[in-house]
Amino acid sequence: MKVLVVGSGGREHALCWAIAKSPKCKKLYAAPGNAGIAEVAECVKIKAEDVDGILKFAKSEKIDFVVVGPEAPLVGGLVDKLEKAGIKAFGPSKKAARLEGSKAFMKDLMAKYNIPTADYGVFDEPDAAKDYIIKMDGRVVVKADGLAAGKGVIVCHNKNEAFAAIDHIMIERAFGAAGDEVLIEEFMPGEEVSFFALVDGTTAVAMGSAQDHKAVHEGDTGPNTGGMGAYSPTPVVDAAMHKKIMKTIIQPTIEAMAAEGYPYKGVLFAGLMVANGQPRVLEFNVRFGDPECQVLMARMNSDVLEALLACAKGKLKDAKITWKRSTAMVVVMAADGYPGHYAKGSQINNLAEAGAIEGVEIFHAGTKFKGKKVVANGGRVLGVTSIGKTVKDAQDKAYEAVDAIEWPDGFCRRDIGWRAIERK
Ligand code: AMP
Ligand code: GLY
Repeated sequence: MKVLVVGSGGREHALCWAIAKSPKCKKLYAAPGNAGIAEVAECVKIKAEDVDGILKFAKSEKIDFVVVGPEAPLVGGLVDKLEKAGIKAFGPSKKAARLEGSKAFMKDLMAKYNIPTADYGVFDEPDAAKDYIIKMDGRVVVKADGLAAGKGVIVCHNKNEAFAAIDHIMIERAFGAAGDEVLIEEFMPGEEVSFFALVDGTTAVAMGSAQDHKAVHEGDTGPNTGGMGAYSPTPVVDAAMHKKIMKTIIQPTIEAMAAEGYPYKGVLFAGLMVANGQPRVLEFNVRFGDPECQVLMARMNSDVLEALLACAKGKLKDAKITWKRSTAMVVVMAADGYPGHYAKGSQINNLAEAGAIEGVEIFHAGTKFKGKKVVANGGRVLGVTSIGKTVKDAQDKAYEAVDAIEWPDGFCRRDIGWRAIERK
């Protein structure tokens, strides 16, 4: 079959790498892709957000199956339009994508169906928001309702910071229309984990847990990024916790979505806070995490394309999905200055040598070709991914590969996986 993957990050490179291995995949395209993706797929110059452009290409090339990486085209209704044109797609409908596209929708759904999460209030007016903060009488988190490229969340230490956050979002309109409404949440202490499940509308199959490292510097310090590294599975989610997450969070959420008339298809990504043996939802995302997708793809043993197709066809019950028992890790290499200002265009060498280390795959997150050379073309540039028997083993391998890469203008965190390693 002819498959099209939408997106251009490390997540999409990992998806393309896994899909290309399927005997079912006869031709693979990526829109727009990157220099690493170009090794396994034909890249077409259409932006991921260009819903109509992608639809037109999928129709004219007679694509059989479209796998959507990022949230923007999902929230923009790409899957609805493709299905209307008779093209199968992996990802939720526009209405179901509101689970990520609107925090108020997500929180109201959880409240209605008793899915464990932080207490909250939703406000479209700054004074009412501030009254609620006074009433909460404790640490709060202030969030812009709409999509704000992962930046619309302000964790506040006291009332004054919370008031300033309201002014920043609602009066200064720092995130534009995403700040028409704000959500004020109780601060949840604990350890953060990501949990992923494949969903076909009614059936959910767990993909398992991962832990991201959002802060830019070692020891989880400095500003937040899209994610500087991840590993999977994580020891916080043992067999009992895994069961609890499926039973109290994933299953009730897909039942709730179906009951509300928006059956969920695709991957459900739950951001969780775990404290005292109890998981609570921080947020849902309607796509794979990036970089978490790299470690999930590295760990999946069975045919990824068949698993994704089973979601689109409502046939997950019959799918045979198996996982490697090993731990996978991804260390993100970013351009100097990220997540602030960074330069593009610096040359990266020795990628083939690093990628030849056994159990290592180098996924490209933001690269392009300049002649025959690979150059940096984004903030997060590479996802150095490894498989090992333990977290430490995977970590040693990932950093061996990082050290083999020659890129003086990039950096990475040297402590990915530290929580799991310190636990032992
Ligand atoms: P979100 O985009 O909603 O996941 O928020 C971004 C980050 O802010 C999360 O990954 C958490 O580290 C933190 N955060 C968000 N909401 C809360 C909360 N209610 N309690 C504690 N931390 C939070
Ligand atoms: N790595 C976190 C995310 O993709 O949202």
